[in-house]
Amino acid sequence: MKSKAAVIRQMELPRPYAESRPLSIEEVELDGPKEGEVLVQVAGAGLCHSDLSVINGSRPRPVPMVMGHEAAGIVRDVGPGVKDLKPDDHVVFSFVPCCGGCPMCAVGRAPLCEPAYEAAITGQLLHGGRRFAVSDGGEVNHHQGVSGYSEYTVAVTESLVKIDKSYPIDMATLFGCAIMTGVGSVVNTAKVQPGTSTAVFGVGGVGLSVVLGLKLVGAYPIIAVDTLENKLDLAKQAGATHVINASEVDPVSALRDLTGGGAVDVFEAVGSEKALAQAYAATRKGGRTVTVGLPSPDSELKISALSVVAEERQLMGSYMGSCVPKRDIPRFMQLYREGRLPVDILNSRFIDLEQVNEGFDALAQGEVARQIIKFDI
Ligand SMILES: NC(=O)c1ccc[n+]([C@@H]2O[C@H](COP(=O)([O-])OP(=O)(O)OC[C@H]3O[C@@H](n4cnc5c(N)ncnc54)[C@H](O)[C@@H]3O)[C@@H](O)[C@H]2O)c1
Ligand SMILES: [Zn+2]
Ligand SMILES: [Zn+2]
Repeated sequence: MKSKAAVIRQMELPRPYAESRPLSIEEVELDGPKEGEVLVQVAGAGLCHSDLSVINGSRPRPVPMVMGHEAAGIVRDVGPGVKDLKPDDHVVFSFVPCCGGCPMCAVGRAPLCEPAYEAAITGQLLHGGRRFAVSDGGEVNHHQGVSGYSEYTVAVTESLVKIDKSYPIDMATLFGCAIMTGVGSVVNTAKVQPGTSTAVFGVGGVGLSVVLGLKLVGAYPIIAVDTLENKLDLAKQAGATHVINASEVDPVSALRDLTGGGAVDVFEAVGSEKALAQAYAATRKGGRTVTVGLPSPDSELKISALSVVAEERQLMGSYMGSCVPKRDIPRFMQLYREGRLPVDILNSRFIDLEQVNEGFDALAQGEVARQIIKFDI
């Protein structure tokens, strides 16, 4: 079948993307689902900074590739052997298709699934192969097994989490990356306790989700740090009790002053080693620095080795919020329904697929948190 999709053919094109157009809107060929695979009509797909990092080359992926790793949609067809999903089911995509059988999956650490990593870096589906091709015949890579910037996509069942049909399917998109990552980092990775003093560096789509998670578990204070006032306003709406504008003051001394020596659990959701170093420096003795941002592969962090021991510090990485998607997406969506995770704050606007390049300009300039490509469905 044919599907209209946003394809990246070359990374590192210059901004503005509205002019260089790194994503071309094309009619691609899509094969039907094979054994264990599912055809999904995409309802919504988010613009995450990790997508921007593919476009600007700091998170290299094989090209050409149908982009998008945060999405939700409706099952239209299933391949042989698929038992747990059927046409008309509503699904959220997980950007790591957890195989269930590798050493990491066996101990419940789904985001570290080993075959899923191999599939992601080679642009293939979990069990091998690609289902997209361009009209001149060449295969096109999948993005994290999702490729949500397409009217239709094929994914393995391990990439899909069935959700209740009563949820707004376009907003369900946000649970595939931002919410799973941000809320998961609080409740799974760090297991933040009520009343703990906390801070979040970077309150874009992911950092705002961290703030929502911290409010959910009753952390206090929740201090949001960003360089942009519009983001700090959103953080207040999401539940931040204090804000610090890092373009106006030194955020480390401001945080230390506010907390009398540093916050106990400090999250970094910027994706730069500079912000991570600041987050570490703003963490109280005995505290934890939880890093969620994805800097470029060659960036390095310099910290005092002695401080780790003598101040009993922990530096924790959190990938996909240490979530088990089939466990966590339904429970986070339930909290959304109950009004305890007001994820709508994250969505700055809905856009059309044709506006995706302009959307990435807006994300790069910090004008927006999440934008969701909304498909006619
Ligand atoms: N660990 C994971 O599983 C995972 C999942 C998704 C995204 N990410 C990563 O998380 C990071 C954030 O993603 P996002 O989509 O929220 O990005 P975003 O662009 O929406 O947000 C980043 C925020 O950081 C702010 N910022 C920039 N420099 C800063 C500084 N020096 N101090 C404080 N704030 C600063 C920006 O103003 C912006 O509000 C990215 O690196 C992304 O790749 C990680
Ligand atoms: Zn993402
Ligand atoms: Zn696995």
